[in-house]
Amino acid sequence: MKISVAGTGYVGLVTGVCLAEHGHSVTCVDIDENKIAIMKAGISPIYEPGLEELMVRNMERLFFTSNYQEAYRDADVIFIGVGTPEKADGSANLKYVYEVAEQIAASVENDCVVVVKSTVPIGTNDKIESLIQSKLKHNVKVSVASNPEFLSQGTAVKDTLHTSRIVLGVEDEQAGEVLKEVYASFKAPIVVTNRKSAEMIKYASNDFLALKISFINEIANLCEIIGANVEDVAHGMGFDSRIGNKFLNAGIGYGGSCFPKDTKALHWLANFHDYELRTVKAAIDVNENQKLKLIKKSRKYYESLKGLNIAVLGLTFKPGTDDLREAPTLVNIPLMIEDGANVKAWDPVGVENFKKLYSEGITYCSSIEDTLKDADICFIFTEWDEVKDFDLKKYSQLMKTPIVLDGRNCYDLEDVQKQKLVYDSIGRETVKNMNMVSI
Ligand code: UDX
Repeated sequence: MKISVAGTGYVGLVTGVCLAEHGHSVTCVDIDENKIAIMKAGISPIYEPGLEELMVRNMERLFFTSNYQEAYRDADVIFIGVGTPEKADGSANLKYVYEVAEQIAASVENDCVVVVKSTVPIGTNDKIESLIQSKLKHNVKVSVASNPEFLSQGTAVKDTLHTSRIVLGVEDEQAGEVLKEVYASFKAPIVVTNRKSAEMIKYASNDFLALKISFINEIANLCEIIGANVEDVAHGMGFDSRIGNKFLNAGIGYGGSCFPKDTKALHWLANFHDYELRTVKAAIDVNENQKLKLIKKSRKYYESLKGLNIAVLGLTFKPGTDDLREAPTLVNIPLMIEDGANVKAWDPVGVENFKKLYSEGITYCSSIEDTLKDADICFIFTEWDEVKDFDLKKYSQLMKTPIVLDGRNCYDLEDVQKQKLVYDSIGRETVKNMNMVSI
């Protein structure tokens, strides 16, 4: 079976490489010739644990090209894995998906199945099919199938190779059979449904997870007010298998390329059909507010951030990725700079990307120690292992005033109690060793 994959971002490249790992011969297509040259040399253009090793291991089955005609002409299956970024109004921008659909229509000379992996609004697969049919150059049969992905950044390879389920949204039986063959060696339950339901499974899954996070964040906020501990609450809730113990970590809100975009896109789609998705709207609103939680907490300790030395630990939206999309730091750091603070920041892999956005006004440090030196306050935005494993004693040794605002609950409160710190985290008691620091 000849497989081509359009797009070499997180979804496209990981899909292509994992299908090659399962023995398929895969051609990855991207318009960016520099990226193609890099991948031909066995280098992954994105930071994703395990991806490059898998690429190198499967190089004899992996092909990279910017010549889409060649890649699509005689392909049996063409995956579309290009981005669907958010537009200003919250809807999904489908420009890249439609461009690929047109290129497919202009190139295919064999019957084939076009598989939409990109997250697209419900009904888009139908539009892609109509577009391809209207522009087909040759008299061939092209079926369109929806096959959403459920990968998380940082564990994308593992999530794809050991996926929890394979969802196939098909309108004709033959397309379903072809896709079952593609995934024959994957050990995962297969859900076969129609295209719209498959598209909805993806949105409903992501929006439900976003809702779960916003829910626990609200509970955390209330825990702080009434003196409960959100971690114990989540732990206690998690034993109920109807609730489950995952995605109940309170923090400073969800970021990344999916939850913010997919909640807004589904809400937009519902509105478009004159329906208000109130639970999803609440998840979005709570999240926007939650992102500012640490800045608000800082007002308990300082009237203004003006002139303060601020240590920022973590820039990315979560650990294990260099991705900054919708990261809470993107709203917090500009506010700190605007307030006149001196910001020093550390992140093990996100600095280069952050520098592209903010080259001035921030001092980037290569160690946590340098970042903390002489700081008046520390903000933890990402729970990197380096932060979680950091020797707690060093905060008070290095900082001018050891006030730590932890947006990711990196430390055990019992360990913090032993330190000369003011430690304010999410949904938990604030540790204030008052006699040690003058607050
Ligand atoms: C997510 C989904 O998990 C994945 O299934 C989907 O295909 C794409 O979107 P991703 O965005 O890579 O994946 O990251 P994820 O690990 O889900 O985290 C998203 C955000 O939620 C992060 O900012 C993370 O910090 C936050 N989060 C996650 C919480 O605040 N609390 C949690 O309990 C879990």
